[in-house]
Amino acid sequence: MLASLLVLPAALVVQLPLVGAVTTLSLSPVSGREGAYLQGAPDAGRARVALQKERAARVAGFAEGPTTIPATNLAYVQYTASIGVGSPPTYYNIVVDTGSSNTFVGTGTPYVKTSTSIPTDQQVNVTYGSGFFSGYEYLDQVTISSDIVIKNQSIGDALEFADFEGVDGIIGVGPTDLTLGTLYPDINASIPTVMDNALEQGLIAAEILGVSFAPADDYNDTNGALTFGGVDGSLYEGSITYTPVTTTFPSAYYWGINVTGATYGKTTVIPGSYAGIVDTGTTLIYIADDWFQTYVDSIPGAYYDGNNTGLIVIPFESIALMEPFTFYVSDQPFTLDVEAQLLPVWQNAAWGAEPNLQYGYIGPIGSLSGTGLDLIIGQKFMERFYAVFDTPNSRVGFAYT
Ligand SMILES: *[C@@H]1O[C@H](CO)[C@@H](O)[C@H](O)[C@H]1NC(C)=O
Ligand SMILES: *[C@@H]1O[C@H](CO)[C@@H](O)[C@H](O)[C@H]1NC(C)=O
Ligand SMILES: *[C@@H]1O[C@H](CO)[C@@H](O)[C@H](O)[C@H]1NC(C)=O
Ligand SMILES: *[C@@H]1O[C@H](CO)[C@@H](O)[C@H](O)[C@H]1NC(C)=O
Ligand SMILES: *[C@@H]1O[C@H](CO)[C@@H](O)[C@H](O)[C@H]1NC(C)=O
Ligand SMILES: *[C@@H]1O[C@H](CO)[C@@H](O)[C@H](O)[C@H]1NC(C)=O
Repeated sequence: MLASLLVLPAALVVQLPLVGAVTTLSLSPVSGREGAYLQGAPDAGRARVALQKERAARVAGFAEGPTTIPATNLAYVQYTASIGVGSPPTYYNIVVDTGSSNTFVGTGTPYVKTSTSIPTDQQVNVTYGSGFFSGYEYLDQVTISSDIVIKNQSIGDALEFADFEGVDGIIGVGPTDLTLGTLYPDINASIPTVMDNALEQGLIAAEILGVSFAPADDYNDTNGALTFGGVDGSLYEGSITYTPVTTTFPSAYYWGINVTGATYGKTTVIPGSYAGIVDTGTTLIYIADDWFQTYVDSIPGAYYDGNNTGLIVIPFESIALMEPFTFYVSDQPFTLDVEAQLLPVWQNAAWGAEPNLQYGYIGPIGSLSGTGLDLIIGQKFMERFYAVFDTPNSRVGFAYT
């Protein structure tokens, strides 16, 4: 099914557009490294010092460099990571979500409690764009990698839930404030995220997450990478284009940014600077309904299959006439060529869609532009561009791959 795992923040007074009408479809560059040390490093001594420093830091419990772990493109509609909880850890395949900030397990493999699992007296309840979970909150040890073993991480044990088919929960890497209002009776408490605790415990040098996704070749394709504590220069090309986290609400509750426009071929689709969010937990790319109409009207015979799949349908004979779709971020173009706009037909069955139609990835958000959350840059965009979620500098970056 299509995922839309952005949480609806407690503070949100404006009604959020409810994405995807339908769900019958069964979701500071650590620049030193490559720059200073390697490129200009005939100086072996300096490299050795760096290595020793890193080793010393590790012994002291500080991981100096960023840590990269694999991520899995699961069922084409969501990305999961294998994360351990407890000691010895049980590993869970949990959805990587920048659109929410609670971490929980139990929707597939049940939460296995060990000696590190400490019950709190709190219930937890989170509602997402699609689905929800509720249960009890624990403190436990969370293993992201051998370098990043977080102690005393607050996590949920999901006892009731909906729409988490095939996955065990979520690792929430959105802003901490999205956890407000999710505990009971401590309704005013926020929950430190895994990123917060990893920084606090000296396991990462900075609260920066690098995300590398790619189109899947099969149903369960471990083709992605998550870098905790920085970016991985081997996973993108050129430089990273950054843009500040937006101050426009409700996008500002999330990893929200302003795009500076969008075009389809020569047609203007987004006519200037508008706020939206960057969400790994949303499968598709959504734009305001009026902008979506401009896009649909530009493709001969295209229509929105709102009552069935929630996807745009494009006549096969129109594919040859299609144009690139470009989002501008800080005025830099990030272009989805025609292929990047289309769902490969061989995946239709897995998406629960008709076998002989051509579907696309750009959809309508469910409201007209002007809400302050007029687009969602989801997984299908990040399968084409590297993304960086940089908390200390309060910015999001994209790079070519
Ligand atoms: C969780 O929250 C939702 C929405 O606020 C509410 O309808 C539901 O009853 C709550 N469920 C539990 C188990 O607390
Ligand atoms: C564990 O985390 C909780 C809340 O996240 C905090 O109240 C508590 O002080 C922490 N305990 C330790 C030993 O760090
Ligand atoms: C939560 O905050 C509100 C407003 O500050 C306050 O009235 C209320 O008593 C607080 N509730 C709890 C359980 O702390
Ligand atoms: C996907 O593959 C991983 C690694 O091989 C495996 O642990 C997991 O159970 C698979 N998930 C599904 C839903 O097939
Ligand atoms: C961001 O977009 C909103 C509209 O969504 C607009 O009001 C605001 O001025 C924009 N901010 C910048 C810095 O362009
Ligand atoms: C969807 O169904 C409703 C109610 O049956 C109908 O009014 C509407 O025209 C349909 N929309 C599309 C795009 O087929």
